[in-house]
Amino acid sequence: MDRVYLDNNATTRLLPEVLDAMIPFMTGDFGNPSSMHAMGRAPARALAAARRAVQQLIGAEAESEIVFTSGGSEADATAIRSALAADPARREIVTSTVEHAAVLGLCDHLERHEGIKVHRIGVDAEGRLDIDAYRAALSPRVALVTLMWANNETGTIFPVEGLAELAHGVGALFHTDAVQAVGKVPVSVRGTDIDMLSMSAHKLHGPKGAGALYLRKGVPFQPLIRGGKQERGRRAGTENIPAIAGFGRAAELALEVDHVAMRLLRDRLEQGILARIPKARVLGDLRDRLPNTSCIAFDFAEGEAILMLLDRAGICVSSGAACASGSMEPSHVIRAMKVPFTAAHGAIRFSLSRETTAAEIDRVIEALPPIVAQLRALSPFGAEEVQ
Ligand SMILES: Cc1ncc(COP(=O)(O)O)c(C=O)c1O
Repeated sequence: MDRVYLDNNATTRLLPEVLDAMIPFMTGDFGNPSSMHAMGRAPARALAAARRAVQQLIGAEAESEIVFTSGGSEADATAIRSALAADPARREIVTSTVEHAAVLGLCDHLERHEGIKVHRIGVDAEGRLDIDAYRAALSPRVALVTLMWANNETGTIFPVEGLAELAHGVGALFHTDAVQAVGKVPVSVRGTDIDMLSMSAHKLHGPKGAGALYLRKGVPFQPLIRGGKQERGRRAGTENIPAIAGFGRAAELALEVDHVAMRLLRDRLEQGILARIPKARVLGDLRDRLPNTSCIAFDFAEGEAILMLLDRAGICVSSGAACASGSMEPSHVIRAMKVPFTAAHGAIRFSLSRETTAAEIDRVIEALPPIVAQLRALSPFGAEEVQ
């Protein structure tokens, strides 16, 4: 059975062109880019080329502003810990209730074990940040504001440029987790107040094990991993050249993505589902959302059960965040949006990629209505609601 893969916010397929860019560094060109001899040259060139590609993807001014990491989580951790270490007099962090676990998990730890005060700003029913609460949390005690560019579950986009400006107003650094935004919407740091930005290769058809932190020139910095002089002393350890070369190629290819075509396919999916399935609602900010993401809550149906029945039909989706699967609790993002109980448990995330086709979308539109109807018939809450 051909699978329909609509879980691209969890991870994406490696593009063949990306694999081609990686293979030489796992075979003949295995050298260490720091080596002075001939075998170091091709890896060093690949490292430089990948850095340029990532720099261009986000409109950074200089190549030196890109620090390669092992992925998005490491980039987030590096940014957060660096900001705290760079100004030890400031002991507060401002973030939101809907960040990825890569940010929230570390903030929880810092609060519990390292005496850092964390302000978690809430969102409204559409996932939009409470700007008044954000302004109120800002003070000269804040070392860092860390707010995501786009939400991994709903696709809701935060107005990071304005939020960064406000952070600078109190002398705080501003970091954005742009892991879900890069490659899906135009992302540019040029002319903004963004000091640090996290990216991850495997979310844009690159390999797992590579990511990057954009670090604006002049921003105070303390490395997470100290040791060797790699990455200008900002991230020690022999570089993962195959993955970084793949990241570079993926970054080049990401510039070619047709965001409008992606949005039209996503809208076709949403309209098809909403037309055929009553009591379904789209979660997130419908005015400002990633073009590939649709989070739909089905009243009186269990998301995990929908996921499993779709899986049996060869369709891969996610219920809430992938990491929240396996638990019956709605995800923290859905809880933060105060989605009503009857709907919160039936939320499914569909996330498309540049490879998704109209035929695949139509297969989902066909497969889903009987699955939801079947589950609603079993629901103790809403049998009478079923059509
Ligand atoms: C918003 C966001 N931040 C960070 C991460 C973590 O990235 P990585 O898997 O590269 O560590 C993810 C991955 O799901 C994400 O969606």
